[in-house]
Amino acid sequence: MTSVPNLTLNDGNTIPQLGFGVFQIEPNDTASAVTQALEIGYRHIDTAQMYGNEKQVGEAVRSSVLDRGDVFITSKLNNGFHRPEDARKAFEQTLADLGSDYVDLFLIHWPLPTLYDGDFVSTWQVLEEFKKDGRARSVGVSNFQPDHLDRLAKESEVTPAVNQIEVHPYFTNDHTRAHGQEQGILTEAWSPIAQGAVLDDPTVVEIAERVGRTTAQVVLRWHVQRGDIVFPKSVTPDRIKANFEIFDFALADDEVAALSALDRGEGGRRGPNPDTFDYIPE
Ligand SMILES: NC(=O)c1ccc[n+]([C@@H]2O[C@H](COP(=O)([O-])OP(=O)(O)OC[C@H]3O[C@@H](n4cnc5c(N)ncnc54)[C@H](OP(=O)(O)O)[C@@H]3O)[C@@H](O)[C@H]2O)c1
Repeated sequence: MTSVPNLTLNDGNTIPQLGFGVFQIEPNDTASAVTQALEIGYRHIDTAQMYGNEKQVGEAVRSSVLDRGDVFITSKLNNGFHRPEDARKAFEQTLADLGSDYVDLFLIHWPLPTLYDGDFVSTWQVLEEFKKDGRARSVGVSNFQPDHLDRLAKESEVTPAVNQIEVHPYFTNDHTRAHGQEQGILTEAWSPIAQGAVLDDPTVVEIAERVGRTTAQVVLRWHVQRGDIVFPKSVTPDRIKANFEIFDFALADDEVAALSALDRGEGGRRGPNPDTFDYIPE
């Protein structure tokens, strides 16, 4: 039995390096998926206001045998609520929906530089309030580009604990990762297996055969060895279990390098470009 490492954030708090993502899990399926994940040993759940399933995440944690303090929960501010007053209200709703008086990590989901007069700094300053009053143990950002991180560094007090960005072998996003690292910001890699798109790649298949693991395990292990935090999503019990079993083997340096070399630059993105993404859910 191997355990999930805890990484230390720049504010001194710790975060399990492997978690469970619940994007695109229907609210009705969320509690059972999270319950399975907790039974397998996951202690970190990544949700968001936009996913519409914070309530069910909270229910699953409360109905488990675990204490609230045993599970690291992240949520994220929805795109329609960047104005400070809206952000405060939305955060209160997150706590109510989770049924908890705090969240372990709260993120600005998208920078939306083309909306709100490009003013994500005032939104960030509201997250700083949540950190100060203890209702968010840690605060961070998601989908921030290097120049967005630089603006926060210049115009605000608290350095984000994490930047949650798209990263997988077809889009290694190394420039943004390195930029965060220089500022003491850990990278969380979203869509870590590119929603399945990298699993048939011949290089991934060849390494998986060599090390005797599944292709998903190999890709998740690659992330972990690069030092990033990951939270693969699945509603399939066997996959939820297999995705957790990545701490009892290691990839050789040349295997890590071969996976990194699959990078396709901007063409490898599967999700939207944060510089132009401006979606506001109804
Ligand atoms: N901050 C952001 O903007 C942002 C954006 C996207 C995602 N995220 C976060 O990152 C998490 C993960 O990203 P994601 O959900 O986009 O994609 P992902 O975890 O890369 O992939 C999920 C997909 O892969 C399948 N899958 C999972 N494990 C597998 C395995 N072992 N073998 C084969 N297929 C497997 C799942 O199918 P089944 O479920 O059918 O098993 C699902 O279709 C999200 O849940 C969310 O928490 C954040």
